Amino acid sequence: IPGRKFFVGGNWKCNGTRDSIKKLVEELNKSVTPEEYLDKRKRKHIIPARINKDYCEVVVTPPFVYIPQVVASIKQEYQVAGQNCWINKGGAFTGETSADMLLDVGCKWVILGHSERRSIIGESDAMIATKTAYALSLGLGVMACIGESIHARETGKTNEVCFGQMQAYLNELKDPKQWAKVVVAYEPVWAIGTGKTATPEQAQDVHAAVRGWLSENVNPKVAEDTRIIYGGSANAANCKALAKMPDIDGFLVGGAALKGEDFTVICMAS
Ligand code: G3P
Repeated sequence: IPGRKFFVGGNWKCNGTRDSIKKLVEELNKSVTPEEYLDKRKRKHIIPARINKDYCEVVVTPPFVYIPQVVASIKQEYQVAGQNCWINKGGAFTGETSADMLLDVGCKWVILGHSERRSIIGESDAMIATKTAYALSLGLGVMACIGESIHARETGKTNEVCFGQMQAYLNELKDPKQWAKVVVAYEPVWAIGTGKTATPEQAQDVHAAVRGWLSENVNPKVAEDTRIIYGGSANAANCKALAKMPDIDGFLVGGAALKGEDFTVICMAS
């Protein structure tokens, strides 16, 4: 897809121990382009390049407490993200983690608006948008999540729900330049963690509609340049068919991100 680099985020959610995360990082490090591949003198035969950051932007998202461990041990082909952040630079907000802190420990991205934070924690569209604008103002990239419930889909309200969530982001991102480091993650709530993946056509329909919405409400260039990635039971078996769709620019992966090999296959799906 000209101009839009494939993007894969691995959302580890609230999972892991120091030991399991050490093992996962070791698996992921095995999957990057081997050093010798880049050293012409040693290249006796073409080693299949695997994750190559020229073709695929890959971000892993550990629980906060393991971010420093991952930043210190994962290869430079990967970027690291937080799974959330606070609305401002911090202070008397017990239990919160600021975007400033995420940057300080080496994060380049943050996931915001995840449906689990909307439904379980009760985060509002407005709070998510405030967080998004603040994180972007510091130079963090944002994986901005949207997605409809099964009720919305079954009552034909998918686009209405997704456009409403996009409008909430737009209310805080009025300058088109703010969209440069936004990746929109379409995650139908009914596909998250259920094994019920959207079909390539279902996902493509929403991705194309959201891109059309961006063109009309921000501008055509932002619409063309913004990566719109799919999340919701994406895995090594279904990623290729989904990635073939013209408006699916990558994935936001949950369960499959905890398995190094599977995650690598998804990163190579473009
Ligand atoms: O943020 C990605 C996540 O919500 C998708 O989860 O397990 O359905 O891939 P999963």
